[in-house]
Amino acid sequence: MNITISSLEKKHFPVMLDEVVQTCLINNKNQLILDCTFGGGGYSRELLKFPNVKVIAIDRDKSVINRGKNLEKEFPKKFTFFNEKFSNLDKVIKKENEPDIIIFDLGLSTFQLQDYSRGFSFKSNEKIDMQMGLSKISAEDVINTLDEKNLKLIIKILGEEQEAGKIAKNIIKARAIKKIDTVTELVRIIEISKKKNYNKKINVCTKTFQALRIFVNKETTELIEGLIKASQIIKFGGKIIVISFHSIEDKIVKYYFTNYSSNKSNPSRYMPIENNQKNSFFKKYKNNFLIPGPEELIRNPASRSAKLREAVRTKQEFIYPKEFKEEFKKYIDIENAAV
Ligand SMILES: C[S@@+](CC[C@H](N)C(=O)[O-])C[C@H]1O[C@@H](n2cnc3c(N)ncnc32)[C@H](O)[C@@H]1O
Repeated sequence: MNITISSLEKKHFPVMLDEVVQTCLINNKNQLILDCTFGGGGYSRELLKFPNVKVIAIDRDKSVINRGKNLEKEFPKKFTFFNEKFSNLDKVIKKENEPDIIIFDLGLSTFQLQDYSRGFSFKSNEKIDMQMGLSKISAEDVINTLDEKNLKLIIKILGEEQEAGKIAKNIIKARAIKKIDTVTELVRIIEISKKKNYNKKINVCTKTFQALRIFVNKETTELIEGLIKASQIIKFGGKIIVISFHSIEDKIVKYYFTNYSSNKSNPSRYMPIENNQKNSFFKKYKNNFLIPGPEELIRNPASRSAKLREAVRTKQEFIYPKEFKEEFKKYIDIENAAV
């Protein structure tokens, strides 16, 4: 069959679906799976095909509520959906309902990216919105009201963009003449600001767009809170699976799994070992991760930066990982900059 990549790109492909299903279904016992990133429902739907699996799913995006409700009708005894954020996981899970598996498939769904009215894609010519859902501000607010210092910081730190200073300066200049209304106007400002394209493989706008999206949705704070809550509510012996797509996300997940696992019993640089030794609520974690195979990369090029990491919960008592938040305070503080 002759299928072009461009026609395939428009479809929704759950990333590393086979790997996720295999990782979830270790044996034949009854499993409760918490899908924290329902999106197109790809993982939930596939997992519900197994007779001994029940799924609870959440997503912050209002536009997926209907999809969630339809799946509830299809699997009334096996599936429940909540429009919620990672940071409220503990509100969704009741004490007697501890999940065996918790999955986070981070970032945007194809549906969000391809709905140009949401302004996530630099191909859009609509409002610069970028709200995933249950967010308090839009990217339009950020671009048009935040001061230059904070704009630069957001683009530099959350986007890892080397020319952040120039981009922030040009945003301020442009909005002094006229409010920046559309994605096309923002794209133009970034293009004239970027003299060098250090990484020819990615669009010049990618990093700035990533930064704005992370900021608007407080994505690093959400991930940190989500991982902490997931470790509190998961069953002993249960697994947390995370698929990340960029280096900040991956750094956070890797740090958390490594520093709170039994191979590393003293996660804090600041605390004496004796106070800290017990905080190993994950089994040994040796920086293992999976990436998509060659066939998936052809079918779905957007999966190229995916990394799947998993950690298994021990029976250790959960001690709040304060130093985890300390380690990534820089990101949390930036995300809290007032707009
Ligand atoms: C990559 S998509 C998931 C795709 C899904 N695995 C599938 O198979 O269709 C990520 C989804 O997670 C949601 N999401 C991102 N951050 C979230 C958060 N903090 N809380 C709840 N949902 C979130 C997004 O709205 C998006 O729908």
